[in-house]
Amino acid sequence: MNDGSPWPALEHIAYGGDYNPEQWPRETWHEDVRLMREAGVNLVSIGIFSWALIETEEGVFDFEWLDTVIDLLHENGIAVDLATPTASPPAWFFAAHPDARVVDRDGGVLGFGSRGMVSHSAPAYRDAVVRIASALAERYGDHPAVLMWHVHNEYGVPVAEDYSPHAVAAFRDWLRERYGSLEGLNEAWGTAFWGQHYSNWEHVGAPAAAPTTVNPAQRLDFKRFSDHQLRACFIAERDAIRAHSDKPVTTNFMANQEFTTDLWAWAREVDVVSDDHYLTAADPEAHIGLAIAADLSRSVGGGRPWMLLEHSTSAVNWQPRNIAKRPGEMARNSLAHFGRGADAIMFFQWRASRSGAEKFHSAMVPHAGTDSRVWREVVQLGASLGRLAESRGSRVRANVAILWDFESFWAQSLEWRPVQDLDPRERIRAFYERLWRDGITVDFALPGADLSGYKLVVAASQYLLRNDDAANLTRYVAGGGTLVVSYFSGIVDEHDAVHAGGFMAPLREVLGCDVEEFLPLRTGSSAAVDYAAGDGTSHRLDADEWADDLRITSAAVRGTYAEGPGTGKPAITRNEHGRGTGWYVSTRLDADALETVMGDVYADAGLAPAGLPEGVEAVARSGEAGDYLTLVNHSDADAEVPVDGVDLLTGAATGGTLQLGAGGTAVVRLAR
Ligand code: GAL
Repeated sequence: MNDGSPWPALEHIAYGGDYNPEQWPRETWHEDVRLMREAGVNLVSIGIFSWALIETEEGVFDFEWLDTVIDLLHENGIAVDLATPTASPPAWFFAAHPDARVVDRDGGVLGFGSRGMVSHSAPAYRDAVVRIASALAERYGDHPAVLMWHVHNEYGVPVAEDYSPHAVAAFRDWLRERYGSLEGLNEAWGTAFWGQHYSNWEHVGAPAAAPTTVNPAQRLDFKRFSDHQLRACFIAERDAIRAHSDKPVTTNFMANQEFTTDLWAWAREVDVVSDDHYLTAADPEAHIGLAIAADLSRSVGGGRPWMLLEHSTSAVNWQPRNIAKRPGEMARNSLAHFGRGADAIMFFQWRASRSGAEKFHSAMVPHAGTDSRVWREVVQLGASLGRLAESRGSRVRANVAILWDFESFWAQSLEWRPVQDLDPRERIRAFYERLWRDGITVDFALPGADLSGYKLVVAASQYLLRNDDAANLTRYVAGGGTLVVSYFSGIVDEHDAVHAGGFMAPLREVLGCDVEEFLPLRTGSSAAVDYAAGDGTSHRLDADEWADDLRITSAAVRGTYAEGPGTGKPAITRNEHGRGTGWYVSTRLDADALETVMGDVYADAGLAPAGLPEGVEAVARSGEAGDYLTLVNHSDADAEVPVDGVDLLTGAATGGTLQLGAGGTAVVRLAR
């Protein structure tokens, strides 16, 4: 491995997908490799769901078919991302170990015939995954076709929490280690409330379904524990592989889709970050959700190039309405991931399955065969990516960080909040969308991270905020940074207990205000804010959902409620602290309404919108061989972008202005 790119053995951007040859007769395998070569495929993920066909009975292995497939791929110059098949244990495993099945919160035992239905706390499962991972690594660890390892599949999906007796026992052990004593646990969980005080460890259990809501501190710890259990299984497999192979190990994340696993912690355990991303068909601007996922994948890996391990060539099969991608959309999606740091563009899956639950999911080779739009676009994309080889390992640099903290999301998503179902990612999306439209590239960061390199930090949804993290944000501003905080932030500590001193107390110094009382709005009603912009103009901004009754200590009031429960009270504040500035926005503004406010925030931070044509995305990657600006036109209108360099996709010099057709893409090596 080198630092810049995880695939020293591949000369190109990796291109390919999940390949499931076991679903097809052997003649088809030969057609597959021929078509893979035609499409420029150079990497496939195999074996993801093949446990039952590799270990046919406990300890009995059949490697013949896998040997044949791997050799065939190798002869054709296609590298292998070899999976451990542990997301789907065989029927014989559950017959022998019925106790290894997942128990859900209501006490139901989850059955066989699906995937992800195993208890990650069951000792038999732990033993079995180490056995199969070791066997695979021993056999293929040095095989020249094997470029890397793909452990399991999407940990935490479809179930992250398991309430089986094995999980409950392991939870108790985890708590003992975390708190040391029962007094520590009682204190952290606030068990004086509703008479939950424990006098014996054996009485402590998982937060199973109860007559009404269960202790939120207990539930938050169970989420932490569940994530820890999944990660322990990953580590066990990874280490079993490492005993026989020095190839990089990954497991595919689901950034910005699921938040059952703490990807910051996971990213520390993998050799290369990889992500699966599927567009939300109901979102007309799904490419913005895609950009968030891509930036998050890059950020959790510390900025290193990452792999898009799965996306779709067209429709998926599991959303309420599965919308086919429009012509060119697959390439736009792929280039958008590339622009945000992906050095691999892969799909689920190579060939559409005829049987099973995913037969209506699109693929690189669709049911319609090669005389199809999808196949032609697959071949074209392979050719395009082939022209980007020189950019491998180049990196994205951002001036702005948005805080992204899974623990806070877990806590915020529990029951009995001032407003139920306050999705922590809703505010992140609004601020991100504003920055996306302004052409400003964003990293994501934890609140305790070193933020000093950023001109602007946005805490869009930081409900749970540890005191030391609040101190970190305060120091960041004192040192000259600009911070924007949105409502329902800085409310509780790591045990979901309200901060001593009240709502937002740990941010009082940096924001110059705190919250006396929440004033959420009735559904459908709106607040309006009269905002005094830095240039002396006044604006009436639409707002809804939330208001606060603020107590001002030192902040200047820049916006005042003109409607709703906060009428006449401060809505938006700006506070100078040390050499920097802390802004507070106490209501919900959409990306349009945020324009004026963020304009003033940018001025404090020394940022400015990039002035791109509407719907055009532009992100730069820099490397030793050059600086590359990836441009994606998501709009239906042709666009002109002032940029000087050579478009690697066409080989043409831009001559100072790039003509980017409607729906078009370009990767410009910038003139230096
Ligand atoms: C992913 C999963 C794949 C496939 C795909 C399409 O989440 O990893 O195995 O199911 O979704 O639905």
